Amino acid sequence: MEELLDPALGDVRLFLVHDDNKARKLRYNLGPARVLTFGGAYSGHIRAVAAAGRRHGFETIGVIRGEEHLPLNPSLAYAAACGMRLDYLDRASYRLKHTPEMEARLRERWGDVAILPEGGSNAAAVRGCAELPGEIGAAYDVICCPVGTGGTLAGISAGLPAGKRALGFAVLKGGGFLTEEVARLQREAYGRVWPNWSINLDYHFGGYARTTPALNGLIAKYRVEGVYVAKMLYGVLDLVRQGAFPRGTRIVAVVTGQPSTPVAE
Ligand SMILES: Cc1ncc(COP(=O)(O)O)c(C=O)c1O
Repeated sequence: MEELLDPALGDVRLFLVHDDNKARKLRYNLGPARVLTFGGAYSGHIRAVAAAGRRHGFETIGVIRGEEHLPLNPSLAYAAACGMRLDYLDRASYRLKHTPEMEARLRERWGDVAILPEGGSNAAAVRGCAELPGEIGAAYDVICCPVGTGGTLAGISAGLPAGKRALGFAVLKGGGFLTEEVARLQREAYGRVWPNWSINLDYHFGGYARTTPALNGLIAKYRVEGVYVAKMLYGVLDLVRQGAFPRGTRIVAVVTGQPSTPVAE
C-alpha cells in the first residue's frame, strides 16, 4: 500500500492498494473441468481465465466479441498460448451471449462447460472479492474501485466492516444499469443487498476504453492502467477537489490493473 501525495488532496488521505480483482473473482470459480467465458479482444478477464486454466489444469474456451483477426493480438495470443480455445461471436450475437438460447448453442458446440459470465462476475466472484477489505492492513473510511461488470464492488461492499463505505466508478457510458446489477449480484451471493455502496457515473470519459486529453494527462502523471484504474483515480481526485469527502477522510483506492498488463507471466 502506498499513499498518493497530491496537493489537491488537502486534508483527505488517499492510499493505493494494488490488488488483482480478476484472480479474486476466479478463486471460487475453479473446479469445473471445462470453463467457457466471454470477453473483448483485449479482455483481462479472458487472459486471467486462460492463465488459471493452464495453472490449475482445466480446459478453457474464450468466446470473443467480433471477428477473428490474424495474427492474434498479444492479449489473445497469450490466452491461446495458455491453451485456451478461441471462438468468436459477431457483435449482434455477442449481445445475446447470456440468453438461454445462446448458452444452449454454445453448449451444443462445446459440450459440457461451466459458463462464466463476461468479466467473471457471478456469486462466487462476489464472495472472492468480499475478502479484499479484510486484507487491508490500515485504517480507512471509504474503499473506491472501478466498476465494469460490478462483481468487484458487490464483493467489496459485502466484505466491509460496519461504518465503512464503498464507492465505485463506472468505466462505461450509460452505466445506470450497474446499480441494479451490483444489487443483483449481492442478492445472488448472499440473499441481501448492502446499503453501504454507491456508483458514480460521471467519469466514463466517453465510454468503455475511451479517453480524453485530461485522462491521458493523469495516466502519464501517475503511470496507471487507463481503462479502469485511471478513471477511478481521476474521479476520486476530482471529487476530493469538489469537497465531496469530509476533511480527514481516509480513502483506499483499489488499483486493479497495471499499465499495459504484461501478456507473458
Ligand atoms: C483492471 C480491472 N479493473 C476493474 C475491473 C472491473 O471489475 P468488475 O467487472 O468486477 O466491475 C476490471 C474488469 O474485470 C478490470 O479488468
